[in-house]
Amino acid sequence: MAKRSPSYVCQNCGAAYNRWQGKCDACGEWNSIAEETSAIAAVPASQRPRGRGRVFALESLTGSTDEAPRLVSGIGELDRVTGGGFVRGSVLLLGGDPGIGKSTLLIQACAALANRNARVIYISGEEAAAQVRLRAERLGLASAPVELASETSVEDILATFEHGPPPRLVVIDSIQTMWTDTVESAPGTVTQVRGSAQALIRYAKRSGSTVILVGHVTKDGQIAGPRVVEHMVDAVLSFEGDGGRDFRILRGVKNRFGPTDEIGVFEMTGLGLREVTNPSALFLSERDLGSPGTAVFGGMEGTRPLLVEMQALVAPTSLGTPRRAVVGWDSSRLSMVLAVLEAHCGVKLGGHDVYLNVAGGLRIQEPAADLAVAAALISSLTGAPLPADAVYFGEVSLSGSVRPVAHMGPRLKEAAKLGFHRAVCPVPGNESGSDSGMRVNGVASLATLVADIAASGESQRRKSTKVSP
Ligand SMILES: Nc1ncnc2c1ncn2[C@@H]1O[C@H](COP(=O)(O)OP(=O)(O)OP(=O)(O)O)[C@@H](O)[C@H]1O
Ligand SMILES: [Mg+2]
Ligand SMILES: [Zn+2]
Repeated sequence: MAKRSPSYVCQNCGAAYNRWQGKCDACGEWNSIAEETSAIAAVPASQRPRGRGRVFALESLTGSTDEAPRLVSGIGELDRVTGGGFVRGSVLLLGGDPGIGKSTLLIQACAALANRNARVIYISGEEAAAQVRLRAERLGLASAPVELASETSVEDILATFEHGPPPRLVVIDSIQTMWTDTVESAPGTVTQVRGSAQALIRYAKRSGSTVILVGHVTKDGQIAGPRVVEHMVDAVLSFEGDGGRDFRILRGVKNRFGPTDEIGVFEMTGLGLREVTNPSALFLSERDLGSPGTAVFGGMEGTRPLLVEMQALVAPTSLGTPRRAVVGWDSSRLSMVLAVLEAHCGVKLGGHDVYLNVAGGLRIQEPAADLAVAAALISSLTGAPLPADAVYFGEVSLSGSVRPVAHMGPRLKEAAKLGFHRAVCPVPGNESGSDSGMRVNGVASLATLVADIAASGESQRRKSTKVSP
């Protein structure tokens, strides 16, 4: 019998220690270390390595798979993020804040697939089967032949799967509620979660079923407990939303079989999640026309162009150190744009508080937003509204020049489609969007943009003083 020494495992990142300590050295989290029975000692004898290895057959890359390698859910926004459907035998982790709509999204996906004759099993560890059924009824999906259970024992679940044909899709809602006999830690601990995930992943690879694990997210945005699970699965999707609003964004964080820069946009309604196929229109629907400090950014999310409003507020500071607050964009990127404005354009913002917000709660990662941010900042500082029919995009370099960005054509086309007439962007090279019908106003440097905005502000002021008596 192996000696069972207690070990201390960080419940956040899974790092193991042989004595308790207040702070985890691996992830820096405080009070996250708890005593657990050693996982290695707890592996039952039947699964412990035997003296000699088993001989297995090797396969070739050209081997054929008998079924379609991808399972298309039919929910376009979901398929876009997974890279064209669920891959056979793959395991996905879906993370998201409590109540964001993870169970809703998954029951909708299950129903869509079950209605197309795939065997689909939904295991809820959190809700009773009746509650899941109630939700399905509310969503009008009660007639879909989804097989349902409320279970938490991984061994029981896997034994059940062995009956009948292997399911095409399995949803485990959530991985934090699962526990396995092979690990002797208490349910909910990181060791249990990891052990359960391991067993389910092994099952997926063996059977070819796609397994989706739901994972809770902690307040700082990590999938709760084991970040180790993120490394074990094939794809990590995160379902995000902005508290007060109805739309939700599904984002690929990791994907072994597809892109990670695509987003899926949904709207939460009484009848469940509705796909938003034209997100630009949604993000621009509450535009504040004619007020200074806003610029429409012609962005790209994966292969899809996305227009979104950047809002800036520049106000004289009352503090010693001015405030810089950013929502939805990288704050070090904002510091860079501010530094370039100061160094190359003569715009002094050292005595001003700067607030930047991406409208609609979207999170932008593209450097191409630099130009739109700069335009919004200048507009707020000078009090001159930007033209309502213009979109902005372009990367700003440290030398103050505006660098070309990829996918100019799609950005311009999307803007034209939504009624914009001009684009302020890098000087077009070979890839010009002349066929989009947009007037392209190429700017070579940030200083040009600042001068343009200041000049238009000046002419607006002159006009308004002429009109008023
Ligand atoms: N009757 C209803 N009408 C409209 N929306 C509803 C209704 N009932 C629930 N919702 C929406 O569904 C959301 C809950 O969705 P769901 O249970 O799928 O979330 P979840 O991410 O699985 O949550 P949890 O983390 O608690 O499991 C609610 O926050 C609410 O927005
Ligand atoms: Mg749920
Ligand atoms: Zn840790």
